[in-house]
Amino acid sequence: MNLERIRDLISARTGLQPDSLGLTAVAGAVEGRVRLQPGERPEDYAERLARDPLEFQALIDAIIVPETWFFRGGAIYNALVKSVRERLGADPAAVVRVLSLPCSTGEEPYSVAMAFTDGGLPAKSWSIDAIDLCANSIAASQLGRYREFSFRETPAEVRARHFASAGEPFEIHPSLRDRIHFRVGNLLEPMTLNAGGGRFDIVLCRNLMIYLTPAARRAALGTLDQLLAPGGLLAIGHAEAGNLHGSQFESVGPEGCFLFRRKEFIEPKSELKPRPAPASGGVRTVMPLSPSGSPSLPPSLAKAKNFADTGRLTEALAECRRLLGLAPTADAYCLLGVILGATAEPERARDAFRKSLYLDPHHREALTHSVLAAEAKRDPVQAGMLRARLDRLTAPEENP
Ligand SMILES: C[S@@+](CC[C@H](N)C(=O)[O-])C[C@H]1O[C@@H](n2cnc3c(N)ncnc32)[C@H](O)[C@@H]1O
Repeated sequence: MNLERIRDLISARTGLQPDSLGLTAVAGAVEGRVRLQPGERPEDYAERLARDPLEFQALIDAIIVPETWFFRGGAIYNALVKSVRERLGADPAAVVRVLSLPCSTGEEPYSVAMAFTDGGLPAKSWSIDAIDLCANSIAASQLGRYREFSFRETPAEVRARHFASAGEPFEIHPSLRDRIHFRVGNLLEPMTLNAGGGRFDIVLCRNLMIYLTPAARRAALGTLDQLLAPGGLLAIGHAEAGNLHGSQFESVGPEGCFLFRRKEFIEPKSELKPRPAPASGGVRTVMPLSPSGSPSLPPSLAKAKNFADTGRLTEALAECRRLLGLAPTADAYCLLGVILGATAEPERARDAFRKSLYLDPHHREALTHSVLAAEAKRDPVQAGMLRARLDRLTAPEENP
């Protein structure tokens, strides 16, 4: 079976470099999934995968091999305890919010919880969220049972203190397990992260960026920036520090920790308002216009836009989908989103804007519509993150 399309799809949605998705792992996982659908031709599987989010999740779960352990890169945990202690010294009422993304099978966030507990930080002063793309890994995290292999950097007394059993599987003490809010999410799809009420003071994003494409790394950094509170700390893997050169993050050491502080906070400025619909009953698309006022679009996309602007939504949809079948572009996905929004299909519209942003993380129109869609869905956290991303695009033009 030709796996190229499937690898491309996985890469586009997760940001993972196609080469990091081992060929045999993908082939084996796809074969296994196809076998579960009697009568389905292997060549139709890619079609189904693109359409069906549950199937996509199942394939991801079949491909990902978890690789993590407790207290990986040990020095970071003491550095985090120290920084939280300082913060509580300055503000004893603070509640420090930590996010582990990706958390894999849970060893990283549990290590933070053990370090905070052993460091004497009061339980009421911190909370931990943990997210990973792989649903199987999240289920394993929630179970909290581990093999010897996960303890390769854990002092015996620490294990004895926090794990209930004396032998395999070692089970994390329920009082720690219940402190961590695990969920499935995709760093490349900010809408799935559901930050649940604000930004984080500390984000650990270790040993993921090395597997991402350059464009996905840039998008991931933008999202991490939005997830962090002003002055928040970002911990990354030792091979990943190069990605932060010249960025909004500055190293705060200590050496060997790869801990960075977000330099500044950019307040969202723009007030977004949906444009009024044209009198014709069509939808007002917001694709860029050339100075002369004529669409600066490929002629074929201009045709779809014209259908949309004049209210011929069925034809606009058909034309847009035809074009996407030929060559998916950020502009075409964005236009598809606008049309779907106008045909009262908000969920699919959001999905189209998301795809547009996959292809071009700086697509202004897709970002604008995504903000409006998040606001319409009453998701202020998501809307805030997208709005700040949009403001960062707009800021240099407004303040040259
Ligand atoms: C090597 S583990 C890192 C775990 C842990 N942070 C550590 O350093 O030990 C990489 C994890 O990234 C997850 N992952 C891959 N792509 C992702 C994405 N787009 N969003 C969230 N998690 C992702 C995988 O499921 C895997 O569990």
